Amino acid sequence: MITERILKSELAAKVITPAQAAAFFKDKMVVASSGFTKAGDSKAVLTALAERAKLDPLKVTLITGASLGHGTDGILADAHAISLRLPFQVDTIMRRAINSGEVLFIDQHLGETANLLKANNFPKIDIAILEAICIEQDGSIVPTTSVGNSASFAALADKIIIEINTEIPFSLKGVHDIFSPGDYPDRREIPIVNAASRIGQGTIPLDTDKIIGIVFTNIKDSPADIAPQDEVTAVIARHIVDFFTTEVEKGNLTNSLLPLQAGIGKVANAVLRGFLESDFEGLTMYSEVLQDSTFDLLDSGKMTFASGSSITVSSDYYEHIFNDFSIYKDKIVLRPQDISNAAEVIRRLGVIAINTALECDIYGNVNSTHIAGTNMMNGIGGSGDFARNSYLSIFVTQSVAKNETISRIVPMVSHVDHTEHDVDIIVTEHGLADLRGLAPRQRAEVIIEHCAHPDYKAELKSYFDRACARGGHTPHLLEEAFSWYTSLRQHGTMKPVSAEKVEFRA
Ligand code: COA
Repeated sequence: MITERILKSELAAKVITPAQAAAFFKDKMVVASSGFTKAGDSKAVLTALAERAKLDPLKVTLITGASLGHGTDGILADAHAISLRLPFQVDTIMRRAINSGEVLFIDQHLGETANLLKANNFPKIDIAILEAICIEQDGSIVPTTSVGNSASFAALADKIIIEINTEIPFSLKGVHDIFSPGDYPDRREIPIVNAASRIGQGTIPLDTDKIIGIVFTNIKDSPADIAPQDEVTAVIARHIVDFFTTEVEKGNLTNSLLPLQAGIGKVANAVLRGFLESDFEGLTMYSEVLQDSTFDLLDSGKMTFASGSSITVSSDYYEHIFNDFSIYKDKIVLRPQDISNAAEVIRRLGVIAINTALECDIYGNVNSTHIAGTNMMNGIGGSGDFARNSYLSIFVTQSVAKNETISRIVPMVSHVDHTEHDVDIIVTEHGLADLRGLAPRQRAEVIIEHCAHPDYKAELKSYFDRACARGGHTPHLLEEAFSWYTSLRQHGTMKPVSAEKVEFRA
């Protein structure tokens, strides 16, 4: 096993156990780990670090590509081993630690973390843990199911621990495309001209003198939690497919559309599935996470190529994909996240970005991260990288949450991740609001009319009419704009529950 996976033979002497690797970490260190949306993460060393922290308390800064699998963020938070976390997480226990203030969190555009580190605007990485399929003869490593920030971590870290995962088949070799545009002021263009462009090399180069340990694991990636398509998400998908059908009829798009990006969340995955029943052909994807729906589209022949930074799929799909990866070898590329999410490329290719909102306001501002403006959910992820630079920026959301007690269309969002300037289309199960070319007052009418839940429509209309009576380019009643959250806190619902409240709003 060792000789098969460590081709630079002198490195074989560096094989250690996860517990031995955990002993390298010290309090206040900056630790980086591979891993992007549960794929290709450290499975053994970070867990061993949490175990160690329980007996021998220490706190580190943890930087990753995106979220970790196997509840690793939660295990680390439970062990009080993290002081600062960036740039993304999806774990319930970590979320609680962030929202209690125990763990500080930098919620960052996923395409920007590498630049922050390269520009020395952040403390240097002490140790990077990188999952790999193998170490090549030249000392470079073949990443596994994600690339994420691993190439940047390898270049910037003082010391490196490699986690060789024997569960990942060798057939994945060749799917990665590692490229660095260089550093300012001599940074060069990223020469990607279509989703399938390959511009770099298949392995991550690294200085093997930095390797302080090599750990072997055979643990699969955590499966993605893919919620089955329900009636609501299916309707949202239909609205989007109908919209694109009309765009093709108008001659604005061809039948292959433009490269698609789809974010995380059950609605975005369902929307991609919606393309299966469409008449579009020759679709491509320029995204960051390749989910189950990507493989459905590739299998159906509707999609010809998918570019991402990770493969994050449910367990059934995992078996199907990795049992014979050769089927997908020439249809997929995995890139570093500062390339998959690069503004330059997204704009050049004219990506159609489909991301999910927690809530939207009547003027088109979108909140994707904060519950009631205060509590962190997951993070902005790559949604901002894509929304700002795409040809078409679409946000999907159900119109209500929590048994209809919360309207996801509100007078003013409680936190802004995507401003009205970056949002072209909002879709709920009730319809699609095409905001392109509309001024704020026009946008409000279209959003309320097409997207709001019927139980909240009259209230939104009343708010808008009264705000317009007061005047303004983007009319608001600031003393009332957040009253919906007050109502939710006091009465458990955003719906009017008492005569006083109705009076206040009216
Ligand atoms: N107020 C309060 N709670 C709300 C809410 C609101 N406005 N909107 C949703 N919720 C609750 C839901 O009820 C649900 O709670 P539950 O799990 O107890 O049922 C939970 O929040 C998640 O909502 P849901 O609609 O199921 O979320 P999702 O799985 O579709 O994910 C995001 C939506 C926005 C959280 C997710 O897409 C995300 O993290 N986006 C940012 C990152 C990103 O877009 N990356 C894209 C590139 S990969």
